[in-house]
Amino acid sequence: MTFAHAHLLGIEPLAPADITAILDLAESYVVLNRSEAKHGDALRGLTQINMFFEESTRTQASFELAGKRLGADVMSMAMQASSLKKGETLIDTALTLNAMHPDLLVVRHPQSGAVELLAQKVRCAVLNAGDGRHEHPTQALLDALTIRRAKGRLHRLSIAICGDIAHSRVARSNILLLGKMENRVRLIGPPTLMPAGISEFGVEVFDDMRAGLEGVDVVMMLRLQKERMDGGFIPSEREYYHRYGLDAEKLAVAKPDAIVMHPGPMNRGVEIDGEIADDINRSVIRDQVEMGVAVRMAAMDLLAQGLRARREA
Ligand code: NCD
Repeated sequence: MTFAHAHLLGIEPLAPADITAILDLAESYVVLNRSEAKHGDALRGLTQINMFFEESTRTQASFELAGKRLGADVMSMAMQASSLKKGETLIDTALTLNAMHPDLLVVRHPQSGAVELLAQKVRCAVLNAGDGRHEHPTQALLDALTIRRAKGRLHRLSIAICGDIAHSRVARSNILLLGKMENRVRLIGPPTLMPAGISEFGVEVFDDMRAGLEGVDVVMMLRLQKERMDGGFIPSEREYYHRYGLDAEKLAVAKPDAIVMHPGPMNRGVEIDGEIADDINRSVIRDQVEMGVAVRMAAMDLLAQGLRARREA
């Protein structure tokens, strides 16, 4: 299995074959993770540092577990509480890191492009765990694996991404990935939460849930990212739920076997009805979390293989 990229900064630079390579390897890690002794050695001897400059629960835990299961020495640095507050620049942080000789660096940062900047300055493989509104590649990959397992394929599906598209790096990475794999992507949300120029991405845009969800195979809900809004995007949460919240009535126009997804964390009663989120016949939200660990193991494994090959050359 060959993976020619030194970093995983986004879906944008990946070819369909790269995406398939990650998902296929992740399948074997799903099996490993369901077994009793959940240990591989693909990252043995390597040091993985997680730097989260922005809050995270599941993504950070998932990367930590993924590294540990493959035998890496894993360290997570709580960056909000550390040097950033004391005024250290990202470049200084990178130089400090180089001195610690990490092999894998997992970074989440509130600014779009910050992770790529860091990748240019450090001597290790960098994985983007979410940068601003830009990309969140491992989320799109875990979503893809979840869809592929639930639907038996990852092409020619009709997929609706709904809600706060404008602030969502999850939406951006998913639009890119699902487009590369030749699916039909529909975006549904209020015009105030739709980024300008979005139709150039080859997607169909709707501002009405019933029209947009008609006949889709997959319904992907997004969190209303209140922390990225400075007011005026929605009239009220109640009104938002009424028009854009996923409930049984709106879901009824999708295909009868349509699956429901959400990257978490969920605002129950704002973008999604709690009962639908918990409905084991429709919701694959728990599967997404499970696939997250496997996909991150696969991505770090492939990057480490490349790292070792380059070091030996
Ligand atoms: C997403 C994120 O941080 O971009 N969450 C996640 O990674 N599970 C989506 C979100 O915060 O709404």
